Amino acid sequence: TWSAVPAGPPDPILGVSEAFKADKDPRKINLGVGAYRDGQGKPYVLDCVKKAESFLEASKPDKEYLPITGLGEFTKNAVKLAYGVDSAPLKDGSISATQSISGTGALRIGAAFLARHYPHAKVVYLPNPSWGNHTPIFRDSGFEVRKYAYFDPETLGLKFEALKADLLTNAPEHSVVLLHACAHNPTGIDPTPEQWAEISDICKERKLFPFFDMAYQGFASGSTSRDAFAVRHFVSQGHQIALAQSFAKNMGLYGERVGAFSLVTSDPAEKARVDSQLKIVIRPMYSNPPAHGARIANTILSNDELYAEWESEVKGMANRIIDMREKLYGILTNDLKTPGEWGHIKSQIGMFSFTGLKKEQTAALAEKAHVYMTADGRISMAGLNAGNITYFAESVDGAVRG
Ligand code: PLP
Ligand code: LMR
Repeated sequence: TWSAVPAGPPDPILGVSEAFKADKDPRKINLGVGAYRDGQGKPYVLDCVKKAESFLEASKPDKEYLPITGLGEFTKNAVKLAYGVDSAPLKDGSISATQSISGTGALRIGAAFLARHYPHAKVVYLPNPSWGNHTPIFRDSGFEVRKYAYFDPETLGLKFEALKADLLTNAPEHSVVLLHACAHNPTGIDPTPEQWAEISDICKERKLFPFFDMAYQGFASGSTSRDAFAVRHFVSQGHQIALAQSFAKNMGLYGERVGAFSLVTSDPAEKARVDSQLKIVIRPMYSNPPAHGARIANTILSNDELYAEWESEVKGMANRIIDMREKLYGILTNDLKTPGEWGHIKSQIGMFSFTGLKKEQTAALAEKAHVYMTADGRISMAGLNAGNITYFAESVDGAVRG
């Protein structure tokens, strides 16, 4: 029956983890997938998460189904975290929201809802480059996927003039524009607040529909409210945005799959109609979401003490990554005098550094040095620690010198 099924390629990001697992060399380093590691290279369960879990255990929750749109208290608190307590549509009761299977699930629900109800052509513009899963998520939901300029390989910065030109003149009116709310994956380059304001104006002028992906709230600056700047600015300018939120990174709840999808609507009556259609989109996909992770996140978001502890732990993770950026820059530039300019390692934001290493160099690093990263030269900074950073820098130095 399946003889005509062709073998598919490995996933560009999760395939790197598979190759890493298969490597038996003790020096091996995995800088592929964006998953936080502590100073000893170990996965990190946040203290606030452990405490929330012990509270939950004591409360002996049942195992009943959640509603189709998940735990209501959780989505309310998730939306508050993103939009801010002062958000006008939040106060008006016109934000429609649902729990989702982490950020990926939120994007997929959003794309499926738009595919069915957005009254214009199903065209989405992604930044070039973007997270590898964005294209298949939108394509599999029936969208035509196009790109807008984002990264400039010459300056290793934002290609802002070309970005503006693409949105102003190339994207047809009513196109959906996907925006990384903070800590752009894979480049680590975010627009400045002034640039965000310009992008917001262009979206308004050209009637573009902003779809925000916020997978790293807190990870860019260490402050969850500062990282929500773009989302809150757009909403304050009257944009009715779509938003995908993930708690995988900022709460370290990767495998628990906790997220939320929300849409700003015009008024509570419109919101109620959108709510009803979100349920109709979700029910045949997975019926209703898992409860445990959402309960953990909600316990943290609704308890002042745990919330404060969470904010400091997010900051701690962000700071360790910034420290690794400084150290890696120092070793490459001062100790090894590796050819090239490495300032971008320090200036890039969030979990990743877009090193500029070429595909052949990343392949050689895996083969010869047992150092794994995605083929585009992106490294997950959190995979570095005091025990492996020198070996990593020396391996990069070797690959650059050829
Ligand atoms: N969007 C971006 C840009 C990401 O980097 C990720 C990865 O964390 C996600 C969405 C969603 O991931 P998850 O489904 O694990 O929440
Ligand atoms: C990544 O880009 O490494 C993360 O967002 C994890 C993933 O699912 O790809």
